[in-house]
Amino acid sequence: MNLTRRHALALIAVAPLPTRAEEAPTLTPKPARARLIGPEAPSTVVWGYDGTVPGPEIRLRQGRRVRRRLVNALPQPTSVHWHGIRIDNAMDGVAGLTQPAVGPGEDFLYDFVAPDAGTWWYHPHNRTFEQMARGLYGPLIVDEAEPPDVDEDVTLMIDDWRLDAEARIDGGFERIFDLAHGGRIGNWITVNGEGAWVRKAAARARIRLRLINAANARIFDLETRGLTGWIVALDGMPLAAPTPLERFALAPAQRADLIVDVEAEPGGEALLISHERDGGYAIAAWEIGAERRRAALAPPAPLPPNPVPDAGSLAEARVLSLTMEGGAMGGLPGAVLDGEMQSPRELAAAGMVWAFNGQAGMTTAPMAEVALGESIAIRMENRTAWPHAMHLHGHHFRKIGPDGSAGPLRDTLLMAPRETATILFIADNPGDWLLHCHMLEHAASGMMTWLKVG
Ligand code: C2O
Ligand code: CU
Repeated sequence: MNLTRRHALALIAVAPLPTRAEEAPTLTPKPARARLIGPEAPSTVVWGYDGTVPGPEIRLRQGRRVRRRLVNALPQPTSVHWHGIRIDNAMDGVAGLTQPAVGPGEDFLYDFVAPDAGTWWYHPHNRTFEQMARGLYGPLIVDEAEPPDVDEDVTLMIDDWRLDAEARIDGGFERIFDLAHGGRIGNWITVNGEGAWVRKAAARARIRLRLINAANARIFDLETRGLTGWIVALDGMPLAAPTPLERFALAPAQRADLIVDVEAEPGGEALLISHERDGGYAIAAWEIGAERRRAALAPPAPLPPNPVPDAGSLAEARVLSLTMEGGAMGGLPGAVLDGEMQSPRELAAAGMVWAFNGQAGMTTAPMAEVALGESIAIRMENRTAWPHAMHLHGHHFRKIGPDGSAGPLRDTLLMAPRETATILFIADNPGDWLLHCHMLEHAASGMMTWLKVG
């Protein structure tokens, strides 16, 4: 063929993209070393995305696409779940439900649109209790078209590790005691993978803090010193009105976006404090530098709402029931496992100690099949002696109070022992969606079910 220069130019104009340029960036979970205790202390063998804890920040504008090729460099199968994103079901990353697990050396292309601005995160969804305990998680930040006016925008991923005296990760991931009690509670807390996270901030600065609880099971009880402000979003979704910041609980998988003003004086410090049984610990600290000159600040406006359907009305909803049983001090009479009724003893031998509606663990049939667009209420009755962090995939819901009042949009609800709570949402996303406790040991030992939508 004899192309004139003119033809060649025309060809280039029609097909400008060689395939290499379209290749998605990779995300590679692999063993690595991390200094979780501090620069002088022994390092820890972890599993991290691209070898870091947390994994790399994935950040984009609202409405844009996330494309990442998962390349599994772990010694066991894995997958990536994009927590809280209202996503195409095929991209939800639940091994065994929405895709097969990706074996060692294999890869999988995740490609989806992020419809909502906010603070999201990613983590594995295969042997999650082990893979997250080893350090696999990372932030997924979706920026508003017009982000709020702040001096700094800081993401803090909080984790709780169980380490031995040599800073090695404790390898007992399925101890029956942890399964039947509060899950794998650790003995070392990190923020962004650091045991002592310290940065500088200017006096009078305004900071957006995106807090993400990436722990297997610990509920953080948080408070700030030298920083005052507001909660502006929960679980990624903006609050209709910012609420003044007080001490608050952050359950596993939950997020809170704060806008805070530095009140501490130059030379002083500001702190994020975690209240533990034996006292408060500063888990993040800012050394306060010279004053940033700016006009006195008005309280922040609410973040722009996301294009999410509202929860609907309880009066029109189809009501489903979820009875949560089991655990220590709970008395599980028995439950169905793999299609057969089993005694508590048999269940425990199979590593199952909790049940949803008399069923331990996943079933081939969903808990319910619901029509696309149907308004759904789930009345969840926690008959156990433990708190649980109930997470629904693919949707955000509101908790309906006894007086009919609707709480903020969330994807993970902290339930108190013996509490009954009703959540309400529109099932507008077709596919197979998990509903499980995000205390990962509870999920692994029975607290897991699913809904089929559409
Ligand atoms: Cu954070 Cu089933 O997930
Ligand atoms: Cu639980």
